[in-house]
Amino acid sequence: MNHPFEPLNPPPRRLMGPGPVDVDPRVLQAMSLPLLGQFDPRFTGYMNDVMALYRQVFRTANRWTLLVDGTARAGIEAVLVSVLEPGDRVLVPVFGRFGHLLCEIARRCRAEVVTIETEWGTVFDPQRIEDAVKRHRPKLVAVVQGDTSTTMAQPLDAVGRICREHGALVYVDATASVAGMALETDAWQLDAVSAGLQKCLSGPPGVAPVTFNDRVEAVVRSRRHVEQGIRPDDYEAAAGRIIQSNYFDLSMLMDYWSESRLNHHTEATSMLYAARECARIVIDEGLENRFERHALASRAMTAGLCAMDLALFGDQAHKMPNVTGVHIPDGVPGDAVRAALLEDFGLEIGTSFGPLHGRIWRIGTMGYGCRRDNVMTCLAALEVTLRRFGHASAPGAGVDAALATWDT
Ligand SMILES: Cc1ncc(COP(=O)(O)O)c(C=O)c1O
Repeated sequence: MNHPFEPLNPPPRRLMGPGPVDVDPRVLQAMSLPLLGQFDPRFTGYMNDVMALYRQVFRTANRWTLLVDGTARAGIEAVLVSVLEPGDRVLVPVFGRFGHLLCEIARRCRAEVVTIETEWGTVFDPQRIEDAVKRHRPKLVAVVQGDTSTTMAQPLDAVGRICREHGALVYVDATASVAGMALETDAWQLDAVSAGLQKCLSGPPGVAPVTFNDRVEAVVRSRRHVEQGIRPDDYEAAAGRIIQSNYFDLSMLMDYWSESRLNHHTEATSMLYAARECARIVIDEGLENRFERHALASRAMTAGLCAMDLALFGDQAHKMPNVTGVHIPDGVPGDAVRAALLEDFGLEIGTSFGPLHGRIWRIGTMGYGCRRDNVMTCLAALEVTLRRFGHASAPGAGVDAALATWDT
């Protein structure tokens, strides 16, 4: 019989955009292992491993450190919909597209959203956040750590303390920054943090590691409603308002991930294997070594770009180490350059959104893709391609500068 579809055969690529990036082969291997039933003791043991491993990744002692199935925004949505009730006030410091995403999700929870904004390419002085917290008295401050849309990283070490002093909870979207730069969930007093696999954790998109402390647990437990058909004999609904989403109800996810193993969804087995292997790789390398590797790649990449007479985007003192924004030179067609890089070198770099669209490219050096060979190949390919599109720089200057930086 004639079959109209060819077998999958994706072309080899170097994924150097803002994510997803190349998956570590160890993770791909883990994903190909046989499935287990979700109550098989071996599998529930793997669930417990995941909780223990991500406590290390998030640097927390939080009991509730688990996976939400879905891409990174599933983690965001689970936290926001489980914490926020209609009418609750949430403060979002917006410094890029993903701050707007937090607002959008919070509004769908029918929360009252208050924002402070700063120009894309800059971050907030913590004092501005404190002033806004004092003024608006939110129940929750929701903030992105590293916003890939602008390549900026918001300093967070003071934000947890500020929120605690003023009686607010703080939630952090660390999707793009976790395992690529310092994130101290407990030391910085962050109440809830969520992530995704497809950036510095070197996995595929599809699950969102989430951690939250007892302050968030108390809010979530006050809204606990177990779905009919699986209620335990001693079940009593909590007094608080039911959480609007079933899939993202953290109280039911807590039941599922605790010893009671009260059934919720069918855990995404292969994604759990992936998440477990991603964390094992991070722990094997060591978080500090990993941060240093990302910082080194960032220094080499930026040195190379500057040597090619390209201008870096944004406040360099607050640049994320795993993604670099660079201005598209005047007269150079940004999308045509990206297409040529893909066609001629199999190399992907990122476009940009909103006010930055057509103005900057974003180049990722994340996780498994954060390597010397990737930095050098990208710079060499960009130099040749840019020359064809009218931006000539001294031959080899970018790679020379990056190699010199890498080796010092
Ligand atoms: C900071 C940040 N938050 C959230 C997301 C959304 O993640 P996802 O597309 O996996 O839902 C991204 C994706 O790029 C991100 O960079």
